[in-house]
Amino acid sequence: MIPTLAGRDFLKELDFTVEEYTALIDYSAELKKLHAAGDEPIRATGKAIALVFEKTSTRTRCAFERAAYDLGLGHVYMDPAGSQLGHKESISDTGHVLSGMFNGIEYRGFSQASMTELADAADVPVWNGLSDEWHPTQSLCDMLTMQEHSAKPRNAISFAYLGDTEDNVANSLVVAGAMCGMDVRIVGPKSRWTPQRVIDAADAINAGTGGTLTHTEDVDDGVRGVDFVYTDVWLSMGESKDLWDQRIELLLPYQVNAAVMEATGNPDAKFMHCLPAFHDRNTTVGEQIYEHTGLSALEVTDEVFTSDASIVFEQSSNRWHTIKAVVAATLGLKVGL
Ligand code: CP
Ligand code: NVA
Repeated sequence: MIPTLAGRDFLKELDFTVEEYTALIDYSAELKKLHAAGDEPIRATGKAIALVFEKTSTRTRCAFERAAYDLGLGHVYMDPAGSQLGHKESISDTGHVLSGMFNGIEYRGFSQASMTELADAADVPVWNGLSDEWHPTQSLCDMLTMQEHSAKPRNAISFAYLGDTEDNVANSLVVAGAMCGMDVRIVGPKSRWTPQRVIDAADAINAGTGGTLTHTEDVDDGVRGVDFVYTDVWLSMGESKDLWDQRIELLLPYQVNAAVMEATGNPDAKFMHCLPAFHDRNTTVGEQIYEHTGLSALEVTDEVFTSDASIVFEQSSNRWHTIKAVVAATLGLKVGL
């Protein structure tokens, strides 16, 4: 069924009700199936979308571009160097300009406040492609991926998120997990636990869905019995590189390694990561970190990243299907009837 979300923004998971959010997961699965069966009509809609990125991206950009292609939408990609955004034109003016030419706007920005400013100015749907606080198209993909890799009903799934438990992906997973009624374990140092306002929002949702949210500093307790172990980078885009040393010292005990996967006690436990990941030295930053610290991996070891338990690439391809569902539903395209 197509969720009735025409005209709506997707700035954070909390913009949707539990019913709307879970309907989007199901709709993503439906669109994925339709595509795999070769039954997806690619038809020109006469509509076009703008993709605005203040920070770099591989997955989010490609998923929006691929979704646009599948849905018969034109699209324009703008990076900070290629537009007036920020340096010469305000976010708000940009929102007015873009909504006069496009039917929807994806925005990856430095702050959630800018996200809201853009959405307030635009009278077309705005989709958050990542901000400092939330990464809602990522968590939607993660919920679909967990569902696909578990025989359990959605509300019986458990996952542990280890590492920088205060970042955008962690916040989004806390709320998305609550929407799905899951057992969510946040495992990291107390100084970087989930902000209270996010916990309050998740608690309110969990009261209705039966989900649970646990915070712990103890890795063994946190991961015991879970179906999925999830982590993200320890320093997010937009944060000062000066924080690397402090973050590494604080978060190294929460690295996902073979011992952590073993501590789940679940031989079928799967490993997830939103990507990109520092699991080896094959990147400029990875090599610099190795030279500086002697560590050849940070948030996840290469052993776990490349193991059979790792579903990171299945996960990344689901960005395409879930983003397509968001775009189709909010533009009211009626694909998949
Ligand atoms: N996971 C994710 O958002 O990846 P990109 O930064 O490559 O878009
Ligand atoms: N927390 C990371 C997620 C990247 C997809 C960041 O914001 O850089």
